[in-house]
Amino acid sequence: VEVISTVARWRKTLDAERAAGRSVGLVPTMGYLHAGHGALIERAGAECDTVAVTVFVNPLQFGPAEDLAAYPRDLEADVVFAGSCGAAFVFAPPVEEMYRAGAQTTVHVAGVSAGFEGASRPGHFDGVATVVAKLFAQAGPCRAYFGEKDFQQLAVIRQLAVDLDLPVEVVGCPTVREADGLALSSRNVYLTPAERAIAPVLHRALEAGVDAARRERPTADAVRSAMTAVLAGASGVTVEYADVVDAHTLLPATEVIGDLRLLIAARLGRARLIDNMGVTV
Ligand code: PAF
Repeated sequence: VEVISTVARWRKTLDAERAAGRSVGLVPTMGYLHAGHGALIERAGAECDTVAVTVFVNPLQFGPAEDLAAYPRDLEADVVFAGSCGAAFVFAPPVEEMYRAGAQTTVHVAGVSAGFEGASRPGHFDGVATVVAKLFAQAGPCRAYFGEKDFQQLAVIRQLAVDLDLPVEVVGCPTVREADGLALSSRNVYLTPAERAIAPVLHRALEAGVDAARRERPTADAVRSAMTAVLAGASGVTVEYADVVDAHTLLPATEVIGDLRLLIAARLGRARLIDNMGVTV
């Protein structure tokens, strides 16, 4: 695996891949890679000739009271893991390379970024949209792979790629889960063993919501209540939201019909957990 730290070299490397007739699969990450990232890298490898992983903990998407300093990092292990999953290149720029002195541009996606994570974490999606627009501009024509675990983020990224005419096909990939249902996340390291045992309640709540949605003529509120009832039974879990939305607009559902997405965010100890599940009724 070749590790690259400058934008100029990254661009040159991926341009050379395309010039040699090889398609590029991009997997943007913030590092501390786990099997969920592994699945993205492997999918990119199955669909593209060359897999390029980015590892950059993006300060712009963390709020002032969030975990930027504590965010887990291990570039050496990430490079080995990315290579074992089939990546040829890893781009790991320092912060000053990604955000050069004097930069004045941020990218704001309206609409899909407004509620849920956007409301809970002001400025978060501007940070995500800005860095992803830069990563896409730096990488050039490619397919880019993102997990559905961050479902709203995926919607924001799809929108920005279309709106800015970026030559990138955005591919959403299913969430990878532990055997007990907990969605894989680099932030799961914040859970104590006792909290780790409680955390799969989010998945159980989503399943209860999906079951409710599939019942005869349910209301959207019945789906919401099915989720909150399960979450209420877990000690130490503070729910930020548990909602059912239109999977395309991310607006709260008024009727249980069409492509829907159930979204949950909850705090458990030091960790803030998010998860989601789709259902078509
Ligand atoms: O999902 C992530 O890891 C990050 O939000 C992303 C998309 C790499 C942007 O920093």
